[in-house]
Amino acid sequence: MKKRQGFSSSVGMMMATAGSAVGVGNIWRFPYILGEYGGAAFLIVYLLMVMLIGIPLMVTEMAIGRRGGEDASKSFKKIAPNTKWYLSGLLGIIAAFIILGYYSVVAGWTLKYIVNSATNVFTSSITPQQTTSLFQNFVSAGLEPIVYTFIFMAATMFIVYKGVEEGIERASKILLPILACILVILAVRSLTLPGAYKGIEFLIKPDFNLFFEKKDAILVAMGHAFYSLSLGMGIVITFGSYTPKDENLSKIALKIAAMDTVIAILSGLVIFPAVFSFGLEPSQGPGLVFISLPNVFGGMVGGRVFGTLFFMLLSFAALTSTISLLEVVVSYLIDSKGLKRSTATLLSGGLICIICVLSSLSMGSHLGDFTLFGKNIFDFLDYITANIFLLISAFLEVLFIGWFYKKGDFVDEITEFGVDKSKLTDFIYFSVRFVIPVMIVVLFIANNGLIK
Ligand code: PHE
Repeated sequence: MKKRQGFSSSVGMMMATAGSAVGVGNIWRFPYILGEYGGAAFLIVYLLMVMLIGIPLMVTEMAIGRRGGEDASKSFKKIAPNTKWYLSGLLGIIAAFIILGYYSVVAGWTLKYIVNSATNVFTSSITPQQTTSLFQNFVSAGLEPIVYTFIFMAATMFIVYKGVEEGIERASKILLPILACILVILAVRSLTLPGAYKGIEFLIKPDFNLFFEKKDAILVAMGHAFYSLSLGMGIVITFGSYTPKDENLSKIALKIAAMDTVIAILSGLVIFPAVFSFGLEPSQGPGLVFISLPNVFGGMVGGRVFGTLFFMLLSFAALTSTISLLEVVVSYLIDSKGLKRSTATLLSGGLICIICVLSSLSMGSHLGDFTLFGKNIFDFLDYITANIFLLISAFLEVLFIGWFYKKGDFVDEITEFGVDKSKLTDFIYFSVRFVIPVMIVVLFIANNGLIK
């Protein structure tokens, strides 16, 4: 039999997982929720959530994958034979598949915005009304956004087809450093704008009033930690299965979470000083990046270059995430269904493209009136994955590891068989057993409106 693919080293694993974690969520979503929830106050709570929940869950997923040594579903079958725990992994795989069906649409938009910036569409004379209608006309145009989405999916499929080490690991090792450089260049530009200090103030001076006014802030912080670290969708399990046996999982997880958070904060340092400098509102919501920032770039010296760089940054971040999502599905088709990598990639990529068409068309008149539970297709897919699938999958994982799996085996897996004696292990196990399950149940109830 052919040897199963894998990462070349812990650095490869770290870069690929960090690539997955660093995505549109860091650069687009994190700053706008930070804006809505009071800046620094939210940041503090978010950091707590990453430590309390994000890191332990990440270690758990890595351990399941590495022990099982197979895709996100079959790994469970290996470590808990003849049980139904594999359904947890399967749910994650389905989530990854669905998420790609709308995430790639947003990724496609970033390509269009690279073109827009590079061809100087955003000039100093463009008004906020114009950037708004530009965005709305584009996303609802029908064919054009679909073409961009397909280009993006083709790139994703190509990298995944090249394999774990040659494709995913290599792409992440190239793209992440470029991404970090672009981010630093943009932060320097943003921080040297007149009035930039107000943006910094916003990021470091906690506004607890705004924070407490919004009763769901803690849950939003937790939900974002899940999303930002790519948890509950089989990614970390799959990547764990490609990790060499002698690597220390807790340390890798700590570093990945740190990278992800630093990049999110850096994105805030790019966006808020610029937003304040141009007198815009920080709490603009989802339109912040595609509607407000074009005005900022239009009005700034060198805006054409910086705008182009910014949207390149966004698309690189998206690409390192989409490859990880596709790999989850592809590895399932390879390990559990016996397909060849090429067939698996074409099949799953093709099906995902069909979902992408539907979710893209739901942004405009073509399918905009078609709703499921009161949401268009795009929002519906986002909703069921983020609020239902991910949470159930993650809940089952911690239930399994915390209460049904042998503690000794789990601890062996994350401490290099006892070599690592740090207290972190106790903390992780405690969190997996008690903190995370309780928090997920609360989040599930709140997000799905089961309790007001
Ligand atoms: N973690 C990614 C981000 O921050 C989001 C993501 C979600 C990636 C789901 C892969 C899968 O954007």
